[in-house]
Amino acid sequence: MKIDVYYTPLGLNAGDLTGRAVVVIDVLRATSTIVTALAAGAKAIVPAASSDEVVRLTANLEKNGIVLAGERRLLKIEGFSLGNSPREMTKEAVGGKTLFLATTNGTPALLAAQGGDPVLVAAALNFSAVAERARGLFTERGDLVIICAGRDKQFALEDAYTAGRLIKAVKKGVPPKKLALNDAAQVSLDLAALGGWQDALGASDAARMLGEAGLGDDVKFCANPDRLSIVPVYADRRIAA
Ligand code: MLT
Repeated sequence: MKIDVYYTPLGLNAGDLTGRAVVVIDVLRATSTIVTALAAGAKAIVPAASSDEVVRLTANLEKNGIVLAGERRLLKIEGFSLGNSPREMTKEAVGGKTLFLATTNGTPALLAAQGGDPVLVAAALNFSAVAERARGLFTERGDLVIICAGRDKQFALEDAYTAGRLIKAVKKGVPPKKLALNDAAQVSLDLAALGGWQDALGASDAARMLGEAGLGDDVKFCANPDRLSIVPVYADRRIAA
């Protein structure tokens, strides 16, 4: 039985994910934002590679039913209604709407996961629910891929920590001899011993940068495990609960 972790989507080659169960993590903050938006009643999320792509995809759509959201350098994109803060994803802001979302690392990671079957979206906020679903898939298929969004094409502590916690939950009961973890998965598992969510996420570069941008409350919000029980699934370019 095998679990592969990718610290950024850059390591993926064509066909690597075909037919494999995939979990995507960008815990600070894109996947936390997605989970929160769906829990607040958003109809679906359409991840985009860039703000230009959001503009192109929405050009001919009825504006009532959609919300444009996303960040560049952590801040709301000019002309968009919402940034990438999960705290903005209220029922009033996103209920009944389709959210078009462009972020620096998270939405490109989701796009890179296309081809996986299924592609699940994980955050601390929905951790137990997504871990249970991933465990079911792993038990059935003996295989799981975890894609960390990373930050600016580099390793990101908060995503690798979340991957480690997920591996710990998913491999329960599997004899070590039967388990093949790639190197990134083994290191993630060690990182899972770092402590609790608040400490581990709070120790990351991303948390420091969010703090400097006046968004430290988002880190605290995202580091709250199991507030939500939905498991978003990405298929046909849409993420739905
Ligand atoms: C990203 O996609 O790079 C992140 O979610 C950045 C952020 O908005 O915190």
